Amino acid sequence: MQASPEVHAWLNALAQEMGVDRRALLQLLGSGGAAAVLMACNQVPVPSEAQELLGELSATTDTDQSPAQSPFFKDPEPFIKHSDTTLETRSEQMEGFITPNHLLFVRNNSVSLDVNADDWRLSIEGDAVASPQEITYRELRQMPGRTVVSYLECAGNQRAMFDLIKGQAADDTQWMTGAVGNGIWTGIPLRTVLELAGVSAEAASVLLIGMDTESPEKGWRRALPIEKALDPDTLLAYTLNGEDLPRDHGYPLRAMVPGWVGSASVKWLSHIVVSTEQFWTRNNTSSYVMIGDDYAPEGEALGKPLTTQSIKSALALPWPARLAEGSHRLHGYAHSPHGPIALVEWSADSGATWHEARVLEPQVQYSWARFEFDWDAAAGEHTLITRATDVEGNMQPDEIPFNEKGYLFNQPLPHPVHVA
Ligand code: MTE
Repeated sequence: MQASPEVHAWLNALAQEMGVDRRALLQLLGSGGAAAVLMACNQVPVPSEAQELLGELSATTDTDQSPAQSPFFKDPEPFIKHSDTTLETRSEQMEGFITPNHLLFVRNNSVSLDVNADDWRLSIEGDAVASPQEITYRELRQMPGRTVVSYLECAGNQRAMFDLIKGQAADDTQWMTGAVGNGIWTGIPLRTVLELAGVSAEAASVLLIGMDTESPEKGWRRALPIEKALDPDTLLAYTLNGEDLPRDHGYPLRAMVPGWVGSASVKWLSHIVVSTEQFWTRNNTSSYVMIGDDYAPEGEALGKPLTTQSIKSALALPWPARLAEGSHRLHGYAHSPHGPIALVEWSADSGATWHEARVLEPQVQYSWARFEFDWDAAAGEHTLITRATDVEGNMQPDEIPFNEKGYLFNQPLPHPVHVA
């Protein structure tokens, strides 16, 4: 492209509009971020000299991407769209055992990437492997596969409840109950490639790095302790619900770390580093860390770094819900990182009396369980509360302390229901 002063100024304005520096903008153009650039173009007038470039950008965006300005590959229409990096599933669409791919929430920290699997490689290196590897997509797909049914949940799911229920707002995306979904993940155990690389007995930590260099970490990353990395259920997943991973969810490869906060399930994974030392990066020092009076700092972290999720339950109803007078069969879902759900109770009188809901099959480790109960709705304003207990005896706590970033909210939710 001709670098006239107008085009320079335009690129600078675009970069500013997108909140990235100019170098990052140019990298973005080369890594499938054209859609986001086009979207920013709506805000920044395009000089005539750059029209040609814009035409080329339009041509490089996917034909199945709707509409042209979307920073997502999937249709954002069914979702609550908090921002250009977040799509929340509507709670009334969470009745099924499996969340369909087109309804699964999206949490990006930059933009969804469009990676060509033929050019992609997975590298495994570090001071704790004997023979570093570079694996192609084709090679990976030929290795013995494994399938895990697991829920995927953002650590900030239900963050809005800190404000709504406890009156103390935590910054960042005000997720209601829809930053979670249940999926069938197929891939290979992370362990397979670690063993291929000759992981040593001294290995302590495995750092997973994504290709999204525009994310705050310049390649989203999270380290797993070696025990979790070697767990056969910790996957490098290439399909979701029987289809190749959707691009918004990390095609061609992502980590799937069952039971852990979603941030550890690194999308667009291309790089693994195995070390004898513990890794400290933004995502376990200042972000995805429980910070507050109740959490003592650990290692280089400002508080307690997040690992596992917490037990929760929710109703698959809009918030607030509107129902007609009469009998209703209500549905919900509950999940725990510690094992299957043993009991779900519900109350329509602020917890004075609790009734047992039916927990439905299938019940699979790491997956959510659906529940249902019948409620005779009389006209007026009501609050329905549910609480879950897992097979290990963990029960949703009545009260949890505040943490600055609003993670792991799991008090029983007082769901408002208007009956008329
Ligand atoms: N991986 C990469 N490369 N970049 C990201 O921004 N977001 C993380 C995780 N993996 C992220 C990532 C976060 S915070 C969550 S909650 C999950 O992906 C969300 O996964 P999903 O968008 O497939 O639902």
